[in-house]
Amino acid sequence: MSEDVTVRQDGNVLVIALSRTEKRNALTASMYAKLAESFQDAEACNSVHSILLRGNGGVFTSGNDIGLFLDQDAEEPHEPAAASFIRAVISLSKPLVACVRGHAVGIGATVLLHCDYVVASDDARLRFPFVDLGLCPEFASTLVLERIVGRNKATEWMLLGASIPAGEARFAGLVNQVMPAELAEEEALSVAQRLASKPQMALRATRALLRQGWNDSLAARIDRESAVFDALRRTPEAQQIFRRFLDRTPQAILTHV
Ligand code: COA
Repeated sequence: MSEDVTVRQDGNVLVIALSRTEKRNALTASMYAKLAESFQDAEACNSVHSILLRGNGGVFTSGNDIGLFLDQDAEEPHEPAAASFIRAVISLSKPLVACVRGHAVGIGATVLLHCDYVVASDDARLRFPFVDLGLCPEFASTLVLERIVGRNKATEWMLLGASIPAGEARFAGLVNQVMPAELAEEEALSVAQRLASKPQMALRATRALLRQGWNDSLAARIDRESAVFDALRRTPEAQQIFRRFLDRTPQAILTHV
């Protein structure tokens, strides 16, 4: 199992940290597997009341390891490993807090849409880079982002793919709090602990009510996006973009605006 994801329990909070810092916590298949297993364990464990997801090295995550898009067998469906991670997140009945420092790109931004509370450091930047990669957004993000920030912002962020400063994400409603970097981790843990200390049946029932009617539309949108994503991933246009990034070709279009 991947050592690039670390898990520890702090009281009733399970703290899951991404720790592949030399690659800006880019997510590999084994990291997705460990994440999926950790979230499933958190759900099953009675002493875990809330979960905190964070990244080491001053970065949340640079998203899917772009090498995976090239390596993957052309016949394989879209990112089964990534799907198992996001499905484990969506299936949680317990609250999930994210602490975002530095970059949250691709699936790193997508997962925030499924969190209950997001604390970002003032140097954090979010990005939905899918169009620039020759891909489309994933895991119901076209549905949830539009619900959270409205049609105009969702369109701007997803089509232009610009890097979104934490303050703008907070103003738009995607981030709950923006803190100085040195305080963000402490604040995120404190929020997770406050959630963990609440009457658990009432907390989970309220959370479920807030998400009522959501799951069917989420599942349908995930399937639709996955089909489009999978077709796009195999196009020469996208494959060339992935190669350029990995080869560090100067005109690689993944420049962060
Ligand atoms: N997949 C694979 N490798 C990645 C990666 C990713 N998503 N993100 C970063 N890396 C690697 C780089 O190739 C580099 O490897 P090297 O040191 O062996 O050359 C290393 O991580 C450091 O990356 P670098 O770009 O130098 O760091 P930075 O701090 O200047 O920029 C980012 C950080 C996140 C802005 C930038 O790496 C980036 O844009 N990454 C791609 C993000 C992306 O599009 N992800 C979406 C996938 S769906």
